[in-house]
Amino acid sequence: MTEHVTTPVAADATHDVVVTVNGVARAAQVPARRLLSDLLRHDLRLTGTHVGCEHGVCGACTVLVEGEPIRSCLTFAVMVDGAGITTVEGLAGADGELGPVQRAFRECHGLQCGFCTPGFLLLATDLLARRPDPTEVEIAEALGGNLCRCTGYVNIVRSVRRAAELLAEETAGRAGTAAAELLVEETAAGEGTGDGRDAEGAGDASTREAGG
Ligand code: FES
Ligand code: FES
Repeated sequence: MTEHVTTPVAADATHDVVVTVNGVARAAQVPARRLLSDLLRHDLRLTGTHVGCEHGVCGACTVLVEGEPIRSCLTFAVMVDGAGITTVEGLAGADGELGPVQRAFRECHGLQCGFCTPGFLLLATDLLARRPDPTEVEIAEALGGNLCRCTGYVNIVRSVRRAAELLAEETAGRAGTAAAELLVEETAAGEGTGDGRDAEGAGDASTREAGG
């Protein structure tokens, strides 16, 4: 019978973890039992991720890992080594301007104390990526696992509907800009060709006139 030798791991042993958070590569050395929520908040100083119940009930700690919402208080940091993570800080623009989902929550009063808000924002972001025009029932189902102690859910659902409108407007705006740019390019190219023809035509005419 084969004998197995177990090598004890020092209690304070650490592991290298590299993650891409909001598009930026971040590295840390963590104990095996370091929670992702602690990695984000304490090691990487991204305190936008909130921790409420710390045992998977409230959803305040929700972040996106490879685009999927997960509860960071139930996830060890070593489990997401190499992954791409989106936290609430990643929803704003590069200039700090609020993103469309954040603007919708502000506009529709989808928060009061704001403690639960990062989790709801990330759940809504995930939902709208999958269902750009969700019904109120779909929104309620998607957000049903997260708890809010003060706002109530009516305004949160309204906020997600509004976010869907803002995202649709942005998409239409981008499509309109791209179409306008294409038209300008085509017009410029056409004018270039036309100029040549005009010049030739003018030359012909002047030649004809000169010739009599
Ligand atoms: S803090 Fe993670 S689910 Fe409540
Ligand atoms: S806004 Fe206060 S807990 Fe949701």
